Amino acid sequence: MKISMRGIFYLKVFIHLCALATFVYLAYLIDQDLLGADPVKEMIHFLGKTSLNFLLLTLLVTPVIKRFKMPLLIRVRRLLGLYSFAWICLHLLVFIWLELDWELLLFFDEVIKRPYLSLGALAWVILLLLSITSINMIKRLMKRKWLTLHRFVYWAVLLATIHYYWSVKSGLIEPTIYLLICLFLLIERKAYFKSLLK
Ligand code: HEM
Repeated sequence: MKISMRGIFYLKVFIHLCALATFVYLAYLIDQDLLGADPVKEMIHFLGKTSLNFLLLTLLVTPVIKRFKMPLLIRVRRLLGLYSFAWICLHLLVFIWLELDWELLLFFDEVIKRPYLSLGALAWVILLLLSITSINMIKRLMKRKWLTLHRFVYWAVLLATIHYYWSVKSGLIEPTIYLLICLFLLIERKAYFKSLLK
């Protein structure tokens, strides 16, 4: 299967539209008071899951390129990754602002005390570093170190999926599905994990 540069352009437009539609949908739910009894929690959940969806899609790009021989598809990977980071920053912002009312000491206390939050925070730090270093100039300056750093995305997705699984008190089916998708995407990178063991 082949994809042209024009196809990539339309795919990027589609990704932007999906992100915009998701944002408008969340704004609609907030405006119409449709987020249930605990709207702040619901917003945190919505934003966390949206970010994870974008992150999993980011990791899906390379296997699809290999399987369907579509090298140009690499051009949408950074966009998906940056959207994942943008959503997760909103997830964090809503937690610190609306749940903790900017009590930063309480925030750090929670992150240290609750292991599921520690994992989420670690995943966020990795995504932050990957987003900063996704700028072309920094990528060129880092040379081979860039690839080494960007492979940490595998750890970020694993930590984020465990963070999700751990945060859920009931209804484990959905987080289990996310965990399985994550493991499938990581098995695709088994060569990397084997190289770590050596
Ligand atoms: C400092 C970083 C983070 C903090 C403080 C944080 C905080 C939280 C909190 C408070 C919850 C709700 C738990 C509850 O229901 O009681 C949550 C759930 C969640 N978080 Fe995070 N998180 C962080 C990073 C991440 C990252 C990096 C991801 C994914 C890329 C993520 C994805 C999710 C998901 C998917 C859920 C569950 C949503 C659901 O239950 O439907 N979080 N997080």
